[in-house]
Amino acid sequence: MGKVKACLFDLDGVIVDTAKYHYIAWKEIANELGFDFTLEDNERLKGVSRMTSLDILLSIGNMSKTEEEKLALATKKNDNYLTYILKMGPEEILPGTKEFLELLKHEGIKIALGSASKNAMTILNRLELTDYFEAIIDGTKVSKAKPDPEVFLKGAEALNVEPKDCVVFEDAEAGVEAAIAGGMKCIGIGKADVLGKANLVVDGLHKMSLQKLSLLND
Ligand code: BG6
Ligand code: MG
Repeated sequence: MGKVKACLFDLDGVIVDTAKYHYIAWKEIANELGFDFTLEDNERLKGVSRMTSLDILLSIGNMSKTEEEKLALATKKNDNYLTYILKMGPEEILPGTKEFLELLKHEGIKIALGSASKNAMTILNRLELTDYFEAIIDGTKVSKAKPDPEVFLKGAEALNVEPKDCVVFEDAEAGVEAAIAGGMKCIGIGKADVLGKANLVVDGLHKMSLQKLSLLND
């Protein structure tokens, strides 16, 4: 890799903390099915697709459901989730995000989104961040979930930048693995013990700078 030419961002946990809304929405489903779902359990759903999240939830409750029942439960969960995210606004953007996006824009570094969420467009619009992204690859555009690199490779392709010149920002282990599998560099957002495979780990985008980004040049 030479100089970083593009930055690809995961959404949930990097740009906005939606995990709390996913949690309440899944907990409502678990409670209706008659079991509890804890915050610790919720950690297992980060970065995981909606249907895989449901499989994990059902395994916690020791339940099995038909495909049809599962689809109905996933739809119900998403309806719950939508009631929360439709109330979100720019005040929920995580600290430092806008400043860092502005900095990248100023430097001519391209920006894309690479998210598993099918609600990504709704969320970006609520946060008024959509215009920063030259390419948006979300859960409606991919068939293989992270750690498969599909979401990021499609993002790099849409930006017309080679994977080796891309840096991915990710808060989930599967997302870090996806970036590396795609031949990209990765900056982990969160804790080094979980995101140890990333090239660099920071607490949040508020801790990012062009200098830190340039550590990934070679
Ligand atoms: C990921 C979240 O970004 O998107 C997961 O980290 C979530 O928790 C997944 O399950 C799918 O989201 P959605 O909005 O399509 O249900
Ligand atoms: Mg995430």
